[in-house]
Amino acid sequence: MEHMRQRIVAGNWKMNKTLDEAMELAIDLQERQDDFPPEVTVILAPPSLYLLGLEMIEEPCFLMAAQNCSHHQYGAFTGEISAAMLQAMRIKYCIIGHSERREYFHETDELIAKKIDACLLDNIAPIFCCGEKKEERVAKKHFVTVMHQLEKSLFHLRPEQMVKMIIAYEPVWAIGTGLTASTDEAQEMHAFIRKTLAGHFGETIAEKIPILYGGSVSPTNSAALFACPDVDGGLVGGASLKARDFISIIKSAGIQ
Ligand code: 13P
Repeated sequence: MEHMRQRIVAGNWKMNKTLDEAMELAIDLQERQDDFPPEVTVILAPPSLYLLGLEMIEEPCFLMAAQNCSHHQYGAFTGEISAAMLQAMRIKYCIIGHSERREYFHETDELIAKKIDACLLDNIAPIFCCGEKKEERVAKKHFVTVMHQLEKSLFHLRPEQMVKMIIAYEPVWAIGTGLTASTDEAQEMHAFIRKTLAGHFGETIAEKIPILYGGSVSPTNSAALFACPDVDGGLVGGASLKARDFISIIKSAGIQ
């Protein structure tokens, strides 16, 4: 049977919204939660500064993710936040290896592997981002690029760690550009990711891992993307900043 895996829609707010705006958006979502399909897990990844404020909402209709954390456990690392700190705030997830962190903060596959380890040590489920740049797709190197990202950041994990992972395939050329991968391109890459994981960790584990699509997901394209057999939901940037759009995307992730 298709879609036995967890269905997830996560909103990555990136560096957007004041505290008031953040609370307003979260409350708008709360008020419309009856519209959410019960099988869809909704995750919000606000700027870390707001995690505590959102945590105070009673019976939230969403779980929370940080957008990044340190690979160190504690110590003299000015400006950093550890996985242990997130865990102490009952945060369940952390986005790791987003292409913006790779590009602007020079995060390597090796560093990303360490951040994944730090998260798992403190019981935070990493949402691991992978995806090729435009020139890699043009050169038909997209599969090899993503395969290397998976190998270098995930293949050292033990099976019981791997089952805690969520993967987000985010082709860099589709992020914030309005250019979405076609359903064929998304399905093909998601199936490739699952096959690669199956080759290393076995079919049973690979079948369990949610693989989300990210990159210009919108209310107009989400239903078709989420209907692909290996697309288990989305990691949404821009459209997660508007309650109406995000709610419509959440609704489209329900099992049809
Ligand atoms: P957009 O939805 O704005 O393209 O961003 C995608 C993204 O980077 C989510 O992490």
